[in-house]
Amino acid sequence: MPVSDHQLIDAWKQVLTLSKLEAGQTVTLLTSSATHPQTLACALVATQQMGAIVNRLDLPPVNAEKALSRDSLAYLGTTPLTGNRAAIAALKASDLVLDLMTLLFSPEQHAILSAGTKILLAVEPPEVLVRMVPTLADRARVKAAAARIAGAREMHIVSAAGTDLRCRLGEFPAISEYGFVDEPGRWDHWPSGFALTWPNESGTYGRIVIDRGDILLPQKSYVSEPLVLTVEGGYATKIEGGLDAELLSGYMDSFKDPEAYAISHIGWGLQPRASWATLGLYDREATIGMDARAYEGNFLFSLGPNNEAGGQRTTACHIDIPLRKCTVKLDGQEVVREGKVLDNEEVANAR
Ligand SMILES: [Fe+2]
Repeated sequence: MPVSDHQLIDAWKQVLTLSKLEAGQTVTLLTSSATHPQTLACALVATQQMGAIVNRLDLPPVNAEKALSRDSLAYLGTTPLTGNRAAIAALKASDLVLDLMTLLFSPEQHAILSAGTKILLAVEPPEVLVRMVPTLADRARVKAAAARIAGAREMHIVSAAGTDLRCRLGEFPAISEYGFVDEPGRWDHWPSGFALTWPNESGTYGRIVIDRGDILLPQKSYVSEPLVLTVEGGYATKIEGGLDAELLSGYMDSFKDPEAYAISHIGWGLQPRASWATLGLYDREATIGMDARAYEGNFLFSLGPNNEAGGQRTTACHIDIPLRKCTVKLDGQEVVREGKVLDNEEVANAR
């Protein structure tokens, strides 16, 4: 169902207020050919109503001939900002960039954030943005989970379907994604609601079973029969199963890059307003699947780069896979039990 401009402007104002936007600050809206017109129009109204100095920077898309899909996360690497000094300078000189284009996983994004500029990505359809407009409670919950990850040396994930994966931690920071940017140099994504980190280089071993009903992204499909990933030394060394396994392998092989098979970020979903079921209701080109990434109690793991966390590995291929019904343990302590996030008291009693 469509949302009214009134609702979306209010949602933008809530996000911008949580992001501490002040009158007189400079906001640049980064747009491209896939930017949603209502999201852009309402962002322009909300930022101006809040007294910001507002720019729009529209850049032509890149990588279409290399990507196998129109999803903005399907091919990482060069961006419309690569080598574009004038655009980078404009973004660095802004207090806040509203990324309605998808600049994720690029050195240019790092350079802009290092200048103190905040970046908020917002590319999901308007009704998804409105349903998952972030709150301070989202932040508190995600920060608490990230603090647990930051203090742990091992994440161990098991499931009745057969997952048994151990990830050593400590080399990379714990990241909170709660949907707004309240500190200088912060990046976030509206909508979101999850805590994550990256395992140590070569530090992941075991088996991942992607069970029936689990979701592959950017395929944006529900798996119909289990896939089994064997993980050794930080890489998926075998992908076995039926047609879904062949489709995943076929897609990943097309990048001809061994780094595509590395275990990338790991964490769990904490967003109660996100839904596992939503993806089945959408045309696949209408969403990038943030419901699937953020729904409460998933174990979200990914395959691909770790440069976003400060690691050395880059690859154009990035797969996100949220699993249902997993138990996640940090240094032996359960934090998610069979797909249910445990609250503080439950964690304390779960030894
Ligand atoms: Fe990812």
